[in-house]
Amino acid sequence: MPDNAPRAIAAALLPWYDRNARDLPWRARPGANAPDPYRVWLSEVMLQQTQVASVIPYFDKFTSRWPTVEALAASGDADLMAAWAGLGYYARARNLLACAREVARRGDFPDTEAGLRELPGVGGYTAAAIASIAFGRRAVVVDANVERVVSRLFAVEETLPGAKAKIYALTDTITPDTRSGDFAQAMMDLGSGICTARAPKCLLCPLREDCDGYATGAPERFPIKAAKAPKPQRHGTMFWLERDGQVLLVRRPDKGLLGGMRALPTGPWTDSSPGLADAPVPAGWQMLDESVTHGFTHFNLDVRLAAATIPSHAGAAVAGEWWPIAEIESAGLPTVFAKAARTFRRVLCAV
Ligand code: ADE
Repeated sequence: MPDNAPRAIAAALLPWYDRNARDLPWRARPGANAPDPYRVWLSEVMLQQTQVASVIPYFDKFTSRWPTVEALAASGDADLMAAWAGLGYYARARNLLACAREVARRGDFPDTEAGLRELPGVGGYTAAAIASIAFGRRAVVVDANVERVVSRLFAVEETLPGAKAKIYALTDTITPDTRSGDFAQAMMDLGSGICTARAPKCLLCPLREDCDGYATGAPERFPIKAAKAPKPQRHGTMFWLERDGQVLLVRRPDKGLLGGMRALPTGPWTDSSPGLADAPVPAGWQMLDESVTHGFTHFNLDVRLAAATIPSHAGAAVAGEWWPIAEIESAGLPTVFAKAARTFRRVLCAV
């Protein structure tokens, strides 16, 4: 890459962004006044590990219901967790509330990268994104899209995740002093629409002439990833206990996977199928023929489904809440439990 290339990159990318920026609900138009830090923070937390298209309806729902950080800070844990259901990575939702309360206590968001990093759930990436997008600070913003674009621009041969520090340093060399928030979002838009993981559209790319990856003739080879260990397989059983058109739901312990979320009763997820060992009450449990599978970040889960019905006068001592089956969609179940609930309803209604 020629010596003047770092500046050339922003000079080519920002005019492209001015014409092609995606219109997203948390964004200001390119070059316009900075957007509301609350909306930037909320969107950045939601966008960690979740695609833009999946985030938009959640972002709209949250900002209609809680238009300010103070409103969000005043919400109840259970309401917020239920509204978050389906977005996954539930520690983010717990941190979201802790962070909203901390910001409301302070009176405002800190306006520097270092200050933002002190907030619950705000790591290096999120602090840099908020500092640059909401406060116009120069900050180096590297998400997965930026990582791909930069690894191609510089034809980085080192493998990920080891190459992260190098990619951060390279991104630093091309980040401009002004409009660094627009620059970051331009890199994200380039990564999502043009410099895509498969079949990048190099002929449409404003950075083609500065791109070492393009010059190699095989830009899609980058980023090069280290071989991953296969995910372990775990097994569990979920229990559908019916009484009077209602089903038993429990709340998961605050700590741990899907902590604090409403759920169907289930025991520990282990190396072999636990069968009926963790049933919430003795009852005439029937194992269904169908099971449900779900991929978590660190393991794949295969759950068997057990169902039982108890009479209306029974179950008084069972811990949990009885939820109308017809309204199960509004319980805010995390995806794996929502999948199981749909399967239970389909199979049990068919018999
Ligand atoms: N992914 C993470 N932050 C984003 C943003 N501000 N715009 C588009 N995609 C993003």
